[in-house]
Formats: sequence, structure tokens, C-alpha cells
Amino acid sequence: MHATPDAAQPDTHTTAPPAAASRPALECDALTKTYGANRIVLANLHFTLARGEFVAIMGDSGVGKSTLLNLIAGLDRADSGDVRIDGASVTSLDDDAATKLRRRKLGFVFQAFHVLPHLTLAQNVALPLLLNGLPPEHARQMLAAVGLDGRGDDLPRQLSGGELQRVAIARALVHRPSLLLADEPTGNLDPDTAHGVLAMLRDETRANGAATMMVTHSEAAAAFADRVLILSEGTLHPAERMRSRLTTEDAGVQRHSRTSHG
Ligand SMILES: Nc1ncnc2c1ncn2[C@@H]1O[C@H](COP(=O)(O)OP(=O)(O)O)[C@@H](O)[C@H]1O
Ligand SMILES: [Mg+2]
Repeated sequence: MHATPDAAQPDTHTTAPPAAASRPALECDALTKTYGANRIVLANLHFTLARGEFVAIMGDSGVGKSTLLNLIAGLDRADSGDVRIDGASVTSLDDDAATKLRRRKLGFVFQAFHVLPHLTLAQNVALPLLLNGLPPEHARQMLAAVGLDGRGDDLPRQLSGGELQRVAIARALVHRPSLLLADEPTGNLDPDTAHGVLAMLRDETRANGAATMMVTHSEAAAAFADRVLILSEGTLHPAERMRSRLTTEDAGVQRHSRTSHG
């Protein structure tokens, strides 16, 4: 598209859709999901995630956090509503097209790492590149970016939990997805290791321009996010509304973290 030399001149382009750079990474529109006859998990959920933004989703166990991630990932179908990734409606695509969009636009990090044991670290990280028909060379650079320089030929069994999650993060970002979905990515890690992994997750998602949606049970993990939302009664609420309750319940944890800083 060409720039108009005379900016004052009215033309039909002023109502054209916004350029790709200004589209949100993710839009959820009136998302509804019910299991069985009456287990309403998501009810008219609206949510927008800007490009490059890092949001943490918290909420009680069983409230629907994984269900929400699965709907966004296209691993499950909503009863109604729409999910748009980079402006493209996943909900309206057939299975084939949805799979292609997911491969290209999404990265995943899971609590249990899901690094494939019989592939080397470089082969694990290269998988999204190969699935997208891209050259695999960038995998080793990505491993270096997560602190595993020169480890590309190692097998996963030689790694600690924290290192395995770094491999999973490298794999999730190597193809420069628009959206990274992380379901309790530090749930299997000790607090010190978790801290290092979260700092790296935040920095690398920023460096790669991905928006991140992280489900977590940990207040310490959520503190890495730009924004914290609570899922309850089928929809997302800003964390401020819950803060007094969380502060009371987590008083012991907060006392502990204050002394550990001193
Ligand atoms: N495939 C399924 N069939 C029936 N019920 C399900 C299914 N998946 C999840 N649920 C129910 O939906 C609710 C939300 O589950 P989930 O999204 O896993 O919660 P969270 O991740 O917040 O712990 C729970 O009550 C769970 O039992
Ligand atoms: Mg879950």
C-alpha cells in the first residue's frame, strides 16, 4: 500500500483495517464453554492481548484455566464465541487451516516440559521450524539465547528440570510465534530455578515479539507479568479486585519472601 502524499486529502483508505503491526496478538470474543449438561466453565469471556504483552492468568483449581488455553490453541472447541490470533479467526477455520495457523502463530510451554527424549536438544528446538518448512539452523542460536550454548547435541536425559524448561521455551519461540501459551510453566521447578526460567521467558518473549499468556498458581511467577487476571465464574477479572483476599491468604508466603530479601 502507498502512503498518501497529501494527508489532509480524504480518501477511502482511512477506514481500511489496521495494519498487521497494530492488530492485537489475541482476541477472545464472547467465549462460552460448557461440559456435559450443566458444567459451565467459560461464560461470555472477552479478552484482548496486545502484541508483546505478558499476562498472567490465576484462579482456583478446576476453574477453567487450561480449558481457556486449549480453546485458544484450537485443541478444544468453544460452544460459541470467537478466537482471533493476529486478526485471523481460528473458530471459523476448518481443522486443516486451524492446524496450519496454530503451527505458524503459536508456541506452547507445558508444566511437564514435553521435550522429546530421543531427540537431541537442537532437534527438539528445530521441530517447529521443520513443521513450518523453515531451515533448522536457527535452533542452535535459540538454545544459546536460553543459556544452553554448545549443548545442541546433548540428549534431554543429561539435563535438569530448569534446563529442560529452557529447551521447551527455546522450542516455543524459535519460529517467532505471535502468541506463546504457557500452562504452569514453573509448576515442576524449585523457586530459585523458577525465577531464572521466568526471567528468561519474559526477556525472550519480548526479544521475539511474542505476546504471552501464562497460567500460574504462584504469586511470585505472576509478578513477572505486565498484567494479572483472575479467572472466576467463567470470566476474567483484573487481579486488583482479588488482592485483599490473596494478601490475607498469602500472608505467610509474603512474610517469608520479605525475610529472604533481608
Ligand atoms: N474434557 C472434559 N470433559 C468434561 N469436563 C472437563 C473436561 N476438561 C475439563 N473439564 C472440567 O472443566 C473444569 C475446568 O477444568 P480445567 O480447565 O482443567 O481447570 P484448571 O486448569 O483451571 O484447573 C473442571 O471442572 C473440569 O473437571
Ligand atoms: Mg490446568
